[in-house]
Amino acid sequence: MGSNHLSPTSMILVHLLSLSSILVLCEGQGIKSTRLLDLVIRDYTFKSFNKFFKTGTPYNINLPSNLTGITVYTSRYRCGSLKRYGAKINEFHLKVGVDVHPCIERVLIVTQNLGNNWSNIYYDNYDALLGYQLVSPVLGLLAYNSGDDIDFNTQFQVKIRSFQNDGIEINFSNYTTNGSSTLDGRIKMCATFEGDGKVKLEKEVAPNVCGATSHGHFGLVVQSPLLPIKKKMRGWTLAFGCSVGAAIAVFLVGLLLIAMFVKVKKKARLEELERRAYEEEALEVSMVGHVIRVHTASATRTAPRIEQNLRPPRSVSLID
Ligand SMILES: *[C@@H]1O[C@H](CO)[C@@H](O)[C@H](O)[C@H]1NC(C)=O
Ligand SMILES: *[C@@H]1O[C@H](CO)[C@@H](O)[C@H](O)[C@H]1NC(C)=O
Ligand SMILES: *[C@@H]1O[C@H](CO)[C@@H](O)[C@H](O)[C@H]1NC(C)=O
Ligand SMILES: *[C@@H]1O[C@H](CO)[C@@H](O)[C@H](O)[C@H]1NC(C)=O
Ligand SMILES: *[C@@H]1O[C@H](CO)[C@@H](O)[C@H](O)[C@H]1NC(C)=O
Repeated sequence: MGSNHLSPTSMILVHLLSLSSILVLCEGQGIKSTRLLDLVIRDYTFKSFNKFFKTGTPYNINLPSNLTGITVYTSRYRCGSLKRYGAKINEFHLKVGVDVHPCIERVLIVTQNLGNNWSNIYYDNYDALLGYQLVSPVLGLLAYNSGDDIDFNTQFQVKIRSFQNDGIEINFSNYTTNGSSTLDGRIKMCATFEGDGKVKLEKEVAPNVCGATSHGHFGLVVQSPLLPIKKKMRGWTLAFGCSVGAAIAVFLVGLLLIAMFVKVKKKARLEELERRAYEEEALEVSMVGHVIRVHTASATRTAPRIEQNLRPPRSVSLID
């Protein structure tokens, strides 16, 4: 063992710390990148927002070249009029009665079309889509609070909700070609990508049209005849790695607890032996008895053996 100067307890702690960071990475990895993309798009939208933008009119947002393939539109509404009249923004139709919450006065609606290249970020990060294949770009609908002056402190995301079924419609007609061989005879489903990594699959409400009741990201999928082996392997190895990590962490916590228990026990034992030796010594001074002296002697002699047995388990070095 190279790290003799480290006590087993602190070594286990070091391993635990590194493992827990791996586990955190395993958990958050996927969804984070889609959220990050939303944040980057939000920042570009607010940066290019201009107070001369007319209410209720969609404006195209310029994105940097490293986001080529993504199309973003934004338009500003008064919450009251959005609810009263609804809105049509590209593929999205927000029907009358749609609610923005919380809404102070105005809301900035942002629509994203992730195109062919960037839609995979959703496909790759939502393992629930295993066995399905995207047949449309992923379209996103988000809303942000929009004050009168564009103050960066008031750019928080707000919810879009509809209390009627399919109060929000997403029309994919422009992205699905009729009689395309990939769709032949296969049933299209609407995929709603939710914030917690889950995907909701539902029937279309009309040909190539999906219904929704809140903001989010949406796509059309069909069941894939060929399971994507590569994705499956990746997902599987990642899941396997994470569960092995978790098992090792549990094992190490166990070792740590045993080591701590043994240490406490050993200390108590030593104190007990010391106390007894002291008492017996005191007793010997005050009493003269052969029987007692024999007992004292044997008790003192057995002590080292007990100590030997109570050493922390050596298997710790296996982990190195
Ligand atoms: C894209 O480019 C901008 C500068 O134009 C840079 O700040 C940003 O980090 C880049 N993003 C990615 C994902 O590469
Ligand atoms: C997707 O990326 C490839 C390579 O980066 C590029 O050639 C192609 O034009 C992109 N397609 C779209 C739709 O942006
Ligand atoms: C489809 O594309 C046409 C032409 O670009 C456009 O006028 C129409 O609004 C689009 N329809 C939808 C539902 O996006
Ligand atoms: C969807 O869009 C297409 C093309 O723009 C249009 O023909 C069709 O009527 C729309 N469907 C619905 C339900 O709005
Ligand atoms: C798709 O089919 C509809 C009706 O079946 C037709 O009106 C439309 O032109 C077709 N679109 C394409 C791109 O072939």
